[in-house]
Amino acid sequence: MNTKEIKIKITEFTGISELPEEERNLLQQAAKSAYNSYAPYSEFHVGAAVLLENGNIICGSNQENAAYPSGLCAERVALFYANSEYPGVKVRALAISAHADHFLVDKPISPCGTCRQVIAEAENRQQSKIKIFMQGEIGPVNMTEGIENLLPLTFYEEKLKKK
Ligand code: THU
Repeated sequence: MNTKEIKIKITEFTGISELPEEERNLLQQAAKSAYNSYAPYSEFHVGAAVLLENGNIICGSNQENAAYPSGLCAERVALFYANSEYPGVKVRALAISAHADHFLVDKPISPCGTCRQVIAEAENRQQSKIKIFMQGEIGPVNMTEGIENLLPLTFYEEKLKKK
């Protein structure tokens, strides 16, 4: 038997003022996008902003549905839209932000498991890591470089490809 320990690396910033202009702007775009969310059921508004290597920023927000599982998280709305609009263009960074109608989001929001899998697919496709920035309405900003920090032992099987 052999027990392995896996280390993850998360960098915590006290706030967006600690970040360079480009990354601060990306988080601000994510926060703004959260106001476009359609979240009448959870009343929890999430915004995501994707920075592409061509400099374009694609935003998305959570889109809910009366049939709950038919809704989609902000991260997937933004990532799927980015790859639909700019197929083959690499994602450099993803910023996520949230606010709620009935409480203060005072810690960074972290992507759900399904969104982590979608981020992993994007990294595998482009063969490079994505910087992920996470924030609440107030409080610190978390940053991690590469989905392996949020999804250790990621599922990916190269042999599933037919060619
Ligand atoms: N949600 C996101 O959009 N992103 C996340 O990372 C976590 C959760 C949405 C899904 C649902 O519309 C609402 O937040 C409450 O779970």
